[in-house]
Amino acid sequence: MRVVTDEAATCATCGAATTRRRHARYCSNACRQRAYRQRAYRQRSTRPAPPKALDSFVGRDEELHRLVVAGDRARVLTLTGPPGVGKTRLAKELTAELPEVGWVGLASVSSGDQVPRACAMALGIGEVDGEPVLGTLVRALAGRALVLVLDDCDHVVRHCAALLETLLLGCPGVRVVATSREPLRVPGEVLFAVPPLPAARAAELFTDRAQAAQLGLRPSHHDPEALNGLCTRLDGLPLAIELAARLTTVLPVSELLARSDDRLELLNRGNRTAAARHQSLRAAIGWSYDHLDADERHVFRSLALVPGGFGVDVAVAACGLPADRVLALLSALVSKSLLTSSGAGRFTQLESVRLYGRERLAEHRETDAVTARVAGWFAGAGPWRPAAPVRSGR
Ligand SMILES: Nc1ncnc2c1ncn2[C@@H]1O[C@H](COP(=O)(O)OP(=O)(O)OP(=O)(O)O)[C@@H](O)[C@H]1O
Ligand SMILES: [Mg+2]
Repeated sequence: MRVVTDEAATCATCGAATTRRRHARYCSNACRQRAYRQRAYRQRSTRPAPPKALDSFVGRDEELHRLVVAGDRARVLTLTGPPGVGKTRLAKELTAELPEVGWVGLASVSSGDQVPRACAMALGIGEVDGEPVLGTLVRALAGRALVLVLDDCDHVVRHCAALLETLLLGCPGVRVVATSREPLRVPGEVLFAVPPLPAARAAELFTDRAQAAQLGLRPSHHDPEALNGLCTRLDGLPLAIELAARLTTVLPVSELLARSDDRLELLNRGNRTAAARHQSLRAAIGWSYDHLDADERHVFRSLALVPGGFGVDVAVAACGLPADRVLALLSALVSKSLLTSSGAGRFTQLESVRLYGRERLAEHRETDAVTARVAGWFAGAGPWRPAAPVRSGR
């Protein structure tokens, strides 16, 4: 009988020192499986397919057409837009049939310096001892033709930009599709702002998801006028529409419409398997708010009480900050998809985003002060003077 002794060894996958039996190549089952996946990956001629959606896809023919045309030319195609507008879903549909796709989900990456590692892991590229992960990635992808999807980059945009700068130079056959609430701002980036669903498509999505929640429900079940009103009030945001449709098991559409001001309280039953920020509409918008700096948050909250489409002057009055500072902050909020600019000095906010801002304003006990500043501006109450400095923090 062969005698097997324990001795110091290193794992063939992760290189960690491990005291295991002499003939064991891996320190754990996880590492053994990882090695198997890497071998299988190397033997395949195509990359892992993008994640498949399990539910139906609605509309977006026009957007897909434009994206296919733009994607043929752009090295980096970034789908931007507000929380839950459908950027990730559109990227899935866009890349579903491509032969060589590497899909990297970044929502769960908590620190930007983990971005290269997340890419390597998603692509099945093993790390090499003593070599920076980015270098390994470039070496593995150089000479390959691949569409790399970086999904949900919002919170790590700077790190994604840094990664791409190196990767795209070193890997001429790699093209990138990114989804992010904010542009990556890298050379060669083409931006596509994903619009909300038009009312008819939003109603279709609502009906589909409501039927899934209640088998046997007829499409004609919902009052079309109320449904149209609800979809419009929910800004045509697919995430909000899906969350609302789930409530039809307890409330008729007319009641949902009547209670749409309470949407942040009501729309809170996401798919169990969805990311935490898609469990509720509040969490989806909060994800963006939490990543703003203190001044951006202040402006974001203050705008919640400025009615309708508004100009710079009233925004300046509402915020109580110098005009040039407010302009810079408005521009930052536009870039982060929390505000829309008409390009002619006018701005609009989605209703759900505005309601979220009101909640935060009340939480900060600033509602009265902002109301007074906005009312003063509308009453032509003379020149505005800067208010006390903005408090930092949430
Ligand atoms: N055209 C569509 N047809 C069907 N479902 C859709 C469509 N667009 C989006 N959805 C669904 O709406 C939800 C939100 O979409 P998605 O995750 O793509 O939003 P997002 O813009 O990427 O959000 P985030 O800003 O948080 O990353 C998902 O459940 C998605 O499947
Ligand atoms: Mg997304």
